[in-house]
Amino acid sequence: MTKNKTFTMIKPTAYKNNCSGKIIQKIYTGGFHIAALKVTKLTKEDAQEFYAIHKGKPFYDGLVEFMSSGPIIAAILEKDNAVADYRALIGATNPAEAAEGTIRNMCGTSIGENAVHGSDSDENAEIESNFFFSGRERF
Ligand code: RTP
Ligand code: MG
Repeated sequence: MTKNKTFTMIKPTAYKNNCSGKIIQKIYTGGFHIAALKVTKLTKEDAQEFYAIHKGKPFYDGLVEFMSSGPIIAAILEKDNAVADYRALIGATNPAEAAEGTIRNMCGTSIGENAVHGSDSDENAEIESNFFFSGRERF
């Protein structure tokens, strides 16, 4: 049976701060299979498209600037109940409110620079995975 999937990005600051290893360890100990993973960088246009759902919100322009400011790690994660379980593992959007032991608590520095992205639905996990990965990059 195919497991559920979610999509994640390790955001530019967490990547730059060498937090990626700790985050990937958390992903494994959380029971996820890493089906795809790469270091890449979003253009401004990529970030505008990826975050189009937030267009018009006060944080949109800053989010686009930040997410295209440096390299990221993109990954597809598989597990039963992947979307909800990964959101539990990463914690609240604001790292200051993220529970002890969560990825955002561990590696986030502000609500904008909050270490990782996690899909919010199975449908968006599919769309976001397809935005980054071809079939031959998935295992
Ligand atoms: P994500 O999409 O990155 O997994 O985060 P999320 O679901 O917890 O939060 P969402 O509402 O989807 O917001 C997307 C990203 O925008 C930034 N943000 N900044 N300054 C602010 O008030 C604010 N609100 C949201 C965060 O980086 C958030 O992850
Ligand atoms: Mg979101």
